[in-house]
Parts: sequence; C-alpha cells; structure tokens
Amino acid sequence: RQSPPAFRHYLIKRAHEARKRIVLPEGDEPRTVQAAAQCQSRGIAQCVLLGKREDVLRVAENQGVTLPDEVEIIDPDEVRERYIGPMVKLRSHKGLTEPMAEAQLEDTVMLATMMLALDEVDGLVSGAVHTTANTIRPALQLIKTKPDATLVSSVFFMLLPDQVYVYGDCAVNPDPNAEELADIAIQSGDSAIAFGIEPRIAMISYSTGSSGTGADVDKVRQATELAREKRPDLLIDGPLQYDAAAIASVASSKAPDSPVAGRATVFVFPDLNTGNTTYKAVQRSANVVSIGPMLQGLRKPVNDLSRGALVEDIVYTIALTAIQAAQNDA
Ligand code: ACO
Repeated sequence: RQSPPAFRHYLIKRAHEARKRIVLPEGDEPRTVQAAAQCQSRGIAQCVLLGKREDVLRVAENQGVTLPDEVEIIDPDEVRERYIGPMVKLRSHKGLTEPMAEAQLEDTVMLATMMLALDEVDGLVSGAVHTTANTIRPALQLIKTKPDATLVSSVFFMLLPDQVYVYGDCAVNPDPNAEELADIAIQSGDSAIAFGIEPRIAMISYSTGSSGTGADVDKVRQATELAREKRPDLLIDGPLQYDAAAIASVASSKAPDSPVAGRATVFVFPDLNTGNTTYKAVQRSANVVSIGPMLQGLRKPVNDLSRGALVEDIVYTIALTAIQAAQNDA
C-alpha cells in the first residue's frame, strides 16, 4: 500500500531525478508563478513561463514571491512566428493555412504545445485559467496518441487517508464504447504501475456481476472481457459496484470469488458523468487531495489543472509531468 505522504515524497524525488523542462503557458497567472518559483527552488523541474517579462515579474512581486533567476520567461510575441511553418506542416492535411496557424498561435496553450511538439520542452502544464477542453485539444491535434494507444484518457491519484487510489477516466472521454473503456482500463492500470501502485482494476457499474441489468452494464461487462483478453497479465474484474470494489466485507457477500473486489486500487468509471462526479464528490465531501487529471496515451506529456487548483496542486502536476517525460525516455 502506497501511503499518501510516501506517494507525495516519491513524486518529488522522482521529478527531481528526472530534471525536466516544463512549459507553463499561463505564465502570468498568480498560482502558476508561485508554483514555478517553488518547483525551481525545490529542484522539481526547470520551468518556462510564457508571458511578458514585466507582467510575470509584477505578478511575482505582488505576491511577495522571489522568482529564481533560472525560471525562464518567454514572451509569446517574440517567438510566435517561428512556429507557424512547423504547425502548418503538422496540420496542413486538415486544411491549416499560415494565417490560420498564426491566429491559433495567439493562444499560449497552442504555442506551448508547438514547443513541446518540437522537443524544445519536455512537458506542458496548463488549466489554471483554461478549460480542460482548451488545454488538451491542441495536444490531441499536435502531439497525438502514442503508437500503441487508441485514445487519450486520464487518471486522478486520489490521496485517501491510508492509501492512494487511481480513478479513470474522470476528465476526457464523455461516453466511451466498450473497446474504448477497455483501453482506458489498461492505460489506467499501466499508469498505476508507473507510479508504484499495484493495479487491481475494478470496472465500476451499478451492477455487481449480474445483480443489475441494462445496456450500460453490458458495456462494462464487454469492456472487462476485452481488457482481459488484451492484457491477461493485469488483474481486472467487473462489473462491480463501488462498494463491492472497495470494501472487503461487501465484496465477501457480493463477489466472493473476485480477485479484485474488496481490494481494488484502480477504479474505472463507465462514462464521464459518473467519473467526473465521483472524483469531485470524494475530493470535496471527504476532503481528499486529488492529483490530476494526468493524461495517458499521449506521445509526450501534457497535463491539465482544475481551475480551482491550489499552488500545491500545480506543483504536484508539474512533478507528475516531469516523471512522465522521463518515463517516455526509458
Ligand atoms: N483521444 C485521442 N484523440 C482524440 C480524443 C481522445 N480521447 N478525442 C478527440 N481526439 C482528437 C480527434 O481525433 C481530433 O484529431 P484531428 O483533429 O487530428 O482529427 C482532435 O482530437 C479534435 O477532435 P474533436 O472531436 O473535434 O474533439 P473535441 O475538441 O470536440 O473534443 C475533448 C475533445 C476536448 C477531449 C472533448 O472530448 C471534451 O470536451 N471532453 C470533456 C472535457 C471535460 O469537460 N471534462 C470535464 C472536466 S475535467 C475536470 O473536472 C478536471
């Protein structure tokens, strides 16, 4: 069992070892400036802030933050032009022209995503101001999925009092079909492994086994079968209700033969309504720190923030991103 303090320590230590360069397109956003200062001084990442130098420095000063000299500040207006050609090259098959690229590069998330596409930085963190869709759409278009992935999805690390759960997908895919849900389960299991959590994957539904019926239950059952076929090495079971997945005493009556029920560490939700609502309910009503959403399946790491993110959340998301970048090198 990975305890939350140990998990936090593990993230910081591994990010420190990774020594990665992370671009923050919301470079003059106050929490982002504070997070960059902390990441730099604690050796978590080399941060690149996009913004006008005078704006960034004013924001830092207003907050009483001393920005270490090593934090890079890049003025988007000074560099935009150099990304127009490469962006057109990546998207001309979609009808992107130079004037369109120039206009789209006004958006600093798009600009930062091009920096990542050209390997000028190792990862990107945004979303303190932008919505999830606006943070990840440029990545879906320009960075694309890994060769072995069929889609991009996401997980949250939920820091419960005595253990860390992985919840997927609570941020990206509105209504995955059975094949997509199977891939989300596999990606979430692999993310658990990559971050030191033993994956026991529960495919969540309103039915445990055949206790309930309906097309939504059938989808989860089919996804479970597909995921098992694709990855016999992973422990996957479903459909399981949340209580049967998480609580041993419930599991012993509802799913006594399941290798996952009662001891799940990875919870895969059937659609975004369920996943997003559950993560927020647990986070807000049980006061559980949640780290993420961490995107999985992208060729290079891009991670989103909740617009309610605290400075600490941004620091951990930068750490996650640096670790993912190092994993991609391996
Ligand atoms: N994986 C891989 N690629 C994808 C995915 C995916 N899951 N979804 C879309 N794409 C690609 C498409 O193939 C397309 O590529 P192309 O332009 O090269 O052909 C590109 O992304 C754009 O596709 P659209 O269908 O136009 O995608 P759109 O931008 O409409 O939607 C998005 C993608 C933004 C992820 C959408 O599914 C979405 O809004 N999801 C919900 C986000 C959200 O609101 N989450 C809840 C809040 S998160 C929180 O609370 C922290």
